[in-house]
Amino acid sequence: MSDDCRLWHGAGLFTSIAGAAPITDGALVTRGERIEWVGAAAALPTSLRDACVVAHDLGDAWITPGLIDCHTHLVFAGTRAQEYSARLRGASYEGLAGAGGGILETMRATRAASEAALLAASRPRLAALCAEGVTTVEIKSGYGLDFASEAKMLRVARALGEEFPVTVRTSFLGAHALPPEFTGRADDYIDTLSGDWLPRLTQAGLVDAVDIYCDRIGFSPAQARRLFTAARALGLPVKMHAEQLANLGGSLLAAEFAALSCDHLEHTTAADAAALAAAGTVAVLLPVAWYCLGETRRPPVDALRTAGVELAVASDCNPGSAPGASLLLALAMATRSFGLDQAEALCAATRGAAQALGLGANRGTLEPGRIADFAIWNIGGPEELGYWTGFNPCRAVIRAGRIVHGELQRGH
Ligand code: NIG
Ligand code: FE
Repeated sequence: MSDDCRLWHGAGLFTSIAGAAPITDGALVTRGERIEWVGAAAALPTSLRDACVVAHDLGDAWITPGLIDCHTHLVFAGTRAQEYSARLRGASYEGLAGAGGGILETMRATRAASEAALLAASRPRLAALCAEGVTTVEIKSGYGLDFASEAKMLRVARALGEEFPVTVRTSFLGAHALPPEFTGRADDYIDTLSGDWLPRLTQAGLVDAVDIYCDRIGFSPAQARRLFTAARALGLPVKMHAEQLANLGGSLLAAEFAALSCDHLEHTTAADAAALAAAGTVAVLLPVAWYCLGETRRPPVDALRTAGVELAVASDCNPGSAPGASLLLALAMATRSFGLDQAEALCAATRGAAQALGLGANRGTLEPGRIADFAIWNIGGPEELGYWTGFNPCRAVIRAGRIVHGELQRGH
């Protein structure tokens, strides 16, 4: 429909296409919910320009793909500010978890919250992400740890996707921690998740992917294998929290199952990186968790790059290890703390993140045929993203070709 054809110009374009240079005077044409054309304004065919009924002259802006937050736990009740105080005084994340706090503390609050209360608690966090140009967000379960509460979390995630102008992808993270009902019976718990909860939640349309916390205070690779085998039988993609506190061999197992992503990776080796690359598994870096846990060991970014692993960066929004809701802050931390450059970090929060959610064919870059999800920024160049630290220069957000946040013209 030609009346649905819009031109967006007067802006630079950062397409997130691998190896592509930024376009300083760009033009982007959308038709309905898709991108029709992207390039230098001077190269825009006259016939296409004439076909555009609406032309938005942005005047001194930059356009990037909509940001994608591919790892969040943003549906939860309560806080863990008290635990944070204890950690500041020297208590360890693992020690608090071993004493029945940590994830189980949030489990108690989340179980006790009504569905409406959980939705209300989660809204401001998602609103903060959307205001930063996020157009797709992954939300995990994993603080319910019983069937009804896991289902409640996933329904809230779906409801947020209806209420906000954002695409929500859910991950079932029942294997986040061992709930008290299964103390001493981790294998039984994995069997229950695999054989009962996961099929029912999938049948209810609540699950897009399956995740597991594979670590010393989580589950073993052998347990992950059983869960992943069940996920595969249901046709669901898998992902893993791996090598955060120690290397248990999780990323090798994830690679064996061609996981969409492996996340954290502070203790990943060069051999693990080679396996991830061969499997096409994305490495999701979570610098806010690294920072807030006071970690010193960094993920091996050089080894991941050398192996050719696609990188993603995410907020990890959760009440324990990463209390916040800012993907822009994660980008800034990924540059300063993990050594990504700004363009690499921006690609990681767009193209890499789309791949980490299995959405790489339609999202994450500005290319003809892709969904027209993009953000308009009050910046002088794309190097300002991953540079501003605790400042949000997002002017407006476009989702599927329509303005969903902010104003197109710069305010005065
Ligand atoms: O990604 N590591 C496991 N899961 C979360 C933290 C969850 C929590 O502490 O509540 C993470 O860091
Ligand atoms: Fe996480």
